[in-house]
Amino acid sequence: MKPVKVGLLGIGTVGSGTFHVLERNREEITRRAGRRIEIAMVAARNVERARGVVGPGITVVDDVRAVVTNPEIDIVVEVIGGTTVAKEAILAAIVRGKHVVTANKALLALHGNEIFAAAREHNVIVAFEAAVAGCIPTIKALREGLAANRIEWIAGIINGTCNFILSEMRNKGLPFDTVLAEAQRLGYAEADPTFDIEGIDAGHKVTLLSAIAFGIPVQFERAYIEGITKLEAKDITYAEELGYRIKLLGLTRRTPEGVELRVHPTLIPAERIIASVDGAMNALLIKGDAAGVTMYYGAGAGSEPTASAVLADVIEVTRLMRAEPEERVPYLAFQPDAISDVGVLPMADVETSYYLRVRVEDEVGVLADIARTLADSGISIDAMLQKGAGGADNETDIVILTHRTRERNFDAAIAAIVKLPAVKPQFARIRREDLV
Ligand code: HSE
Repeated sequence: MKPVKVGLLGIGTVGSGTFHVLERNREEITRRAGRRIEIAMVAARNVERARGVVGPGITVVDDVRAVVTNPEIDIVVEVIGGTTVAKEAILAAIVRGKHVVTANKALLALHGNEIFAAAREHNVIVAFEAAVAGCIPTIKALREGLAANRIEWIAGIINGTCNFILSEMRNKGLPFDTVLAEAQRLGYAEADPTFDIEGIDAGHKVTLLSAIAFGIPVQFERAYIEGITKLEAKDITYAEELGYRIKLLGLTRRTPEGVELRVHPTLIPAERIIASVDGAMNALLIKGDAAGVTMYYGAGAGSEPTASAVLADVIEVTRLMRAEPEERVPYLAFQPDAISDVGVLPMADVETSYYLRVRVEDEVGVLADIARTLADSGISIDAMLQKGAGGADNETDIVILTHRTRERNFDAAIAAIVKLPAVKPQFARIRREDLV
């Protein structure tokens, strides 16, 4: 059979990994795919550098349009990232009947509905395993392995940069800024780390997971996103004393009122296996009604780990490109005419439990006043710590774990607590999840 021709958009970290893994494993990949897969054309900003990577036998151009309009190309692999050139290129490929493999979580989280609709209209596949958690086959697990389940929730450590920073803060007791600078020096964090540390990258990924888990449109604009920049090292220590680790989690959950879609630092019980996932690694828990909780672990970024997912998609597209569209796995796991319009819950309506740290003057009745304020809001206290008393300033930290309540309710209680005369205005509020 004629080889499948791939056009590669971008030959940076992921693109070069894709090229090298395909070269190295070509024989195995051909045995799996049933056809030889060839990278026939590469688009790169720096053509000379790209030629240095792929050698003389492959056409290298500096214009993505030359690839997506080339009638010889069967599959376009987009690994340039961003939401402008990549979007135009993918839509141009789709209208020309080319299948698309992309690692671009931002693009799909923001424009996935439009891209999948175009792909459906033109009977082509858009595959995106590499967009979530690098090499870990999460999309495959959700769309196929767990297809018999009613998915209840997903919770994931899906940003390696944040997990590296939080692990270092915990292990070394260092503040956020110091660890971020070290992460940048070691190449774990970008020069502009905003997307990672503000939780946006994790937000893109959990938005895609949520859509696939519950059969809803991608709705990044409705996700609640809070990063790790305001976390203090002492909260990591206090949480530890209470039996918890703090992780940046992407969370999505089905509730009777709507779907929760959120990213924020989260206290998780130290005895959960996912709590010991450290460094730049990713891990996800998926709770299905039949399977119970399943866990997935691996490298969430990097050249060859991400290439592993890209090429898995290329192999699958190669097998399925001749199949009728209805024989393929739907883009968002559910048939397009069965996508549900169940809404994403505003954060104020989400129910969870909380870690609260307040700084108070260490005097008679402060704790009682705080406890009463929580009780007045119907919030039950689960555990408490008092730390750092006895200093010259006569102040102390009070740390409280609450039972579950609505965010709106908890916000009202905090507003009342910080108005108490002996309570300082700065506080730390971190959500807590038991993950069972
Ligand atoms: N920057 C991401 C991370 C990987 O740190 O996990 C790509 O999404």
